[in-house]
Amino acid sequence: MEQQNTSVTMEKIVSLAKRRGFVFPSSEIYGGFAAVYDFGPYGVELAKNIREAWWQAMVHDHDNIVGLDSAIFMHPRVWEASGHIGGFSDPLAECKKCQTRSRVDHLLEEIGVQADEKMTESEINALFDEHKSKIACPKCGQKEWSEAKNFNLLVESNLGDFTGTGENKTYLRGETCQGIYINFKNVLDSTRVKVPFGIAQIGKAFRNEITARQFIFRKREFEQMEMQFFVHPSEAERFYNEWKEKRFQYYIDLGIKPENLKWHEHENLVFYAKAAWDIEYRYPFGFKELEGVHNRSDYDLTQHSKFSGTDLSYRDPMTNEKFMPWIVETSVGLDRTFLAVLCDAYTEEEISEGDTRVVLKFPKKLAPVQVAVFPLMKNKPELVTKAREVFDMLRPHLRCEFDDNGNVGKRYRRQDEIGTPACITIDFDTLENDTVTVRDRDSMEQCRVAIAELKNYL
Ligand code: GAP
Repeated sequence: MEQQNTSVTMEKIVSLAKRRGFVFPSSEIYGGFAAVYDFGPYGVELAKNIREAWWQAMVHDHDNIVGLDSAIFMHPRVWEASGHIGGFSDPLAECKKCQTRSRVDHLLEEIGVQADEKMTESEINALFDEHKSKIACPKCGQKEWSEAKNFNLLVESNLGDFTGTGENKTYLRGETCQGIYINFKNVLDSTRVKVPFGIAQIGKAFRNEITARQFIFRKREFEQMEMQFFVHPSEAERFYNEWKEKRFQYYIDLGIKPENLKWHEHENLVFYAKAAWDIEYRYPFGFKELEGVHNRSDYDLTQHSKFSGTDLSYRDPMTNEKFMPWIVETSVGLDRTFLAVLCDAYTEEEISEGDTRVVLKFPKKLAPVQVAVFPLMKNKPELVTKAREVFDMLRPHLRCEFDDNGNVGKRYRRQDEIGTPACITIDFDTLENDTVTVRDRDSMEQCRVAIAELKNYL
């Protein structure tokens, strides 16, 4: 069997994701809804397995990290304190011909010019003015641009605004970690944790992203898996380096190919960060941010103390020292992990001349279906009954699917595209000797296994 040197393209990934029920464009029957996507039946399983792997690695494998599930809506002052109302924006410019809006830093990046994240609106405008005559609109190809304007990414809501005045505007959260900071004191007061300790959370976040491209890499409604580790200021650097190492290793342990991962250091830091490194994955469109590991200093707890009037400093019970904890943050998007896992697993193989199969070689713990059970023929009730028995026996232990549709060859191909590691066929020999055929996804080898041994074998 020859492994083809085909590069994974986004077209192939998007098409497979739709065809096999991993990801659907949202509201498709209404023409779609930009940068919003739905997980289909296999996608929702893969997403759940990714969430569980992260939760296991961050919460259950550490005795000093606890979980939280804070609300999506928070007090409007949270976003003032966090700096999002003032500083959470991207520079935007409009094509004068077709009115398509694009992110100015991305447009500049396309021609090799790096924009500084800290630039003011007039600074980025000056840089854009210098180069915009060379930049083509990604939609119509023209090179006529409006001025660059900062566009705030927070998504507004009218929650509780019954008079329609728009005062005390509420927002859908732009990042999940703010819910952790505002519960820092609650967690300290209600559990046995002591600094250094962490709080982990998985949940939805919302951003008015300007550019709606690159499939689920940049969504307007997405999910974050964030952990905030609270430390003494003198230990921030040590813990920062420790977490950097742990998080990189996490992806290797998850089964991602090491050659598709690398570090990227942010030279220009956002307002809250003292250090920021990204773990990048080699997506079909290049190495891009998968996870951010940030040293956020005492910025967040200091700001929330100031704005809420509640002192969030910590008194060490052993030394009696009072200090404002620093925060080491690890922050990854569920959707970006999903896309990385999908791209990493995507393989095309020539199995005989002119016959190619597509197979998703998911790590076993992430595969949406771990074992598929087939009766050889669906019109033989004795085979179907036996196959149901095997299916019911395995179901409490593994994620199983029963499939009796089409010929067995077609069922193998379908399960390959879903990424199912093992397929079991119940045939006429099974009725004689209680053995089944087990076919391995990656090698495609088949062997006979006694039903009594199946659970251990798998
Ligand atoms: N709390 C820090 C924070 O939110 P960020 O770099 O803005 O930092 C963290 O986001 C992670 O969230 C990113 O590394 C990425 O995986 C994910 N993410 C951010 N924006 C996203 C979007 N529009 N769509 C999908 N994932 C996104």
